[in-house]
Amino acid sequence: VKRITTHILQEMKSRGEKIAMLTAYDYSMAAIVDEAGVDIILVGDSASNVMAGHETTLPITLDQMIYHASSVVRAAKRALVIVDLPFGSYQGNSKEALNSAIRIMKESGAHGVKMEGGVEIAESISRILTAGIPVMGHLGLTPQSIYKFGTYTVRAKEEAEAQKLREDALKLQELGCFGVVLEKIPALLARQVSESLNIPTVGIGAGQHCDGQVLVIHDMLGINKGFSPRFLRKYADLHQVMNSAIKSYVNDVRAKNFPNEKEEY
Ligand code: KIV
Ligand code: NA
Repeated sequence: VKRITTHILQEMKSRGEKIAMLTAYDYSMAAIVDEAGVDIILVGDSASNVMAGHETTLPITLDQMIYHASSVVRAAKRALVIVDLPFGSYQGNSKEALNSAIRIMKESGAHGVKMEGGVEIAESISRILTAGIPVMGHLGLTPQSIYKFGTYTVRAKEEAEAQKLREDALKLQELGCFGVVLEKIPALLARQVSESLNIPTVGIGAGQHCDGQVLVIHDMLGINKGFSPRFLRKYADLHQVMNSAIKSYVNDVRAKNFPNEKEEY
């Protein structure tokens, strides 16, 4: 199978072919995601929430991201593997940002990094790109800034914030980012940004006019029972499937139905 490249993603936008992106954090899940034909696997810092059980994405470390990423890379035969630079690993200065990106590329074998923010992190993005590392931007509801926002509600509803987002998106393109995630912004704004950029946009809660879509795998498979925002389509109810399978196992063990004679040596 031929590996998806940032160049192919660019061609997909030009042809009007939508890009399918999902998160994965471990080998077994990434193998399933890759086999199913997802174009980009994001090793998101949402691992902090869904893998580690933290309330926010802030606590996850660079070492932990590298551990998740290296597991995903071993499974991904076709998908481009992009890894979030975690909170604190790139905001300090551009040298620190470059070191963090290099560690991810070297130690995990991933194909690029994603960073939250616009003009504020331009110098860091630039320096990482100069080293030959593909960078994906991330604008709108950027969860590493949750304590600045104070809420997970939709961003850029006001014109001032919308205008800054348009400018940030153009800046990311000008710097040389290969794409940009747009999270939880009005569909009209996402459409304007997608039409104004040559590089692909990948939306989450940003409407149907983005060049691609991304979801957190645990959310779209319905593994997290409680999480049901408006933008989330649940493609399975794995919480139910797994819960009933595990209950059956527990019942079988207790009833001495497992293992049976065929399952013993
Ligand atoms: O960490 C993550 O899963 C993400 C996506 C939701 C875009 O950044
Ligand atoms: Na993220």
